[in-house]
Amino acid sequence: MSGETSHLHLDGIPSDRLRQVQKYLKPFHLSRKKLREISTRLWTDMIRGLGKRTHNKAAVKMLPTFVRATPDGTEKGDFLALDLGGTNFRVLHVRVVEEEQRVLKVSQHAIPKKIMLGTGEQLFNHIATRLGDFVDSQNLKGQTLPLGFTFSFPCEQKEIDKSILIRWTKGFNCSGVEGKDVVKLLKEAIQRKEDYDIGSVAMVNDTVGTMMSCGYRDQSCEIGMIIGTGTNACYMEEMKNVKRVEGEDGRMCINTEWGGFGDDGSLRNILTKFDVQVDKMSINPGVHTFEKMISGMYLGEIVRLLLVKLTEDKLLFNGQMSEALRTKDKFQTKFISEIEEEDNGLENGEKILTELGLKWDPVDVRVVRLVCDTISSRSARLCGAALATIANRIRTYRRLDHLKTTVGVDGTVYRKHPNFSEELQVTVRLLAPECSITFLVSEDGSGKGAAMVAAVAERLSRGQ
Ligand code: GLC
Repeated sequence: MSGETSHLHLDGIPSDRLRQVQKYLKPFHLSRKKLREISTRLWTDMIRGLGKRTHNKAAVKMLPTFVRATPDGTEKGDFLALDLGGTNFRVLHVRVVEEEQRVLKVSQHAIPKKIMLGTGEQLFNHIATRLGDFVDSQNLKGQTLPLGFTFSFPCEQKEIDKSILIRWTKGFNCSGVEGKDVVKLLKEAIQRKEDYDIGSVAMVNDTVGTMMSCGYRDQSCEIGMIIGTGTNACYMEEMKNVKRVEGEDGRMCINTEWGGFGDDGSLRNILTKFDVQVDKMSINPGVHTFEKMISGMYLGEIVRLLLVKLTEDKLLFNGQMSEALRTKDKFQTKFISEIEEEDNGLENGEKILTELGLKWDPVDVRVVRLVCDTISSRSARLCGAALATIANRIRTYRRLDHLKTTVGVDGTVYRKHPNFSEELQVTVRLLAPECSITFLVSEDGSGKGAAMVAAVAERLSRGQ
């Protein structure tokens, strides 16, 4: 990262047009100084989130997860896992055997929008029905397998099987669930079916599941990160710093809920008017400010709003708008990855713009690529700054000159975007130079990890 914008595709855009377009993009460029400031602010907010008296008002919630141990490799058995929180809802049958978590079967379902915005009872009935079908199809009806439940929303966890939803995020807004114990709601829905039973439940956030699933392969994995529909991270914190939970010894995994960073206005100086607009048009204005600058649910919208503005100001498509470009969510986040592809990006861009009903010339396509580059790059750098904060914190509290650690990562933005991971890693190296971080992409992580948490809980309950 030599210059602030050297990684961006500027070629093929006449200098005059480029100068004008850059005026709109400038607020999205974050200098090293700004990134450092953001990292320092997050550091302070993490301390507030952990504090006994300060956590209530903290934007970064730093939620204790009651996960105290990562896998030690001796766990074994068959488990069910439920994974709810992204675009899809999944049920898995996982077998944990020596050094391996084998997914025996997985079924995946889209959650209808009607259910995402309906009542809690409808949502949990829906889940219980799908789980029942799955148990049936796997001939598991007579058994009571332990269940790992990945529920990827901010929860105040009381125990491993008691977890109160603080608020919905991303596209969900089911009534009657906020403030309630989600495990209880799931169990009640299963009981209403009177058709099958489950064993003990271990509830986890997807970041925790991701960390745990990688932890089986690499025991120094003590950070989990998601950059998908939403964004978040968890890490192993020293118990003595977790002021809200009794005990001083060992460590506990903390779900940072970094998506909420900035909800108290602390990121006001880097928000652009496009970010403000995305927030206003979302189903939860004022909530999850940081997430709205980073994750898959919002990146496409930021790009779309910029393209609309550039078209209105005659810097794109000869000033000719299309109906699709005016429509919310029509510019999908996956288009960004496709347009930034090294070899076929411009060609992909041409196809996408045509499908959006736009009349483009070759320079337009390059301008659109530059816009995509700018937005995805800001997202990667913000994530990098936040991850660097966590790594620096772990290093400082362990009094190490150098920290070597592993991050388990999942999420479509991280996995599918051509240069997101590179840009993120460059930023982490810049802001946490005394930390060497290995990134492990976790396939099926949150589901498998939930089974892993259930497995660790089983091992601990056997006193091993
Ligand atoms: C949202 C949720 C968080 C989850 C993240 C990634 O930020 O609040 O719990 O981990 O999305 O799915």
